[in-house]
Amino acid sequence: MPTLAIGSDHAAIRLRRALVEHLRERGFTVTEVGPSEGDKSDYPDQAAVVARAVVRGEVERGILCCGTGIGVSIAANKIAGVRAALVHDPTTARLAAQHNRANVLCMGGRLLADEYGCELADIWLETAFEDRHQRRLDKITALEGAPDGVTPEG
Ligand code: RB5
Repeated sequence: MPTLAIGSDHAAIRLRRALVEHLRERGFTVTEVGPSEGDKSDYPDQAAVVARAVVRGEVERGILCCGTGIGVSIAANKIAGVRAALVHDPTTARLAAQHNRANVLCMGGRLLADEYGCELADIWLETAFEDRHQRRLDKITALEGAPDGVTPEG
């Protein structure tokens, strides 16, 4: 069972709590990151905590939620080593694992029902990466730290 960090800003507390409860019930060890009800927060703060926990190996995977999922995915992808995928449905949840080996899943708490979000997280966690896509991931890694305008080929 992978260990997980699950974070959200104020706009997705309900989905975050549902995910934490659901995945703990399923036996995952979960670290929860984010504000309590009534507190405002800035999604890059939670994204940084979760993304850094993943790349430092403190947890194996992360899940991040904000109102749309867009902000946390942009922020998390600034951390080298993170492949954060914003998903909306079972197909994107499956392909985020199968093709992109996403190590952070992002979802919109204002867009998805809690139960549906938990379903998408289950799909992502249960789907294996297909090795035939590794070459593309290596090219993404090569972009990290590359000067602007430089492709993996140079
Ligand atoms: C906060 O109101 C909202 O902007 C944030 O949760 C998120 O949707 C940003 O992408």
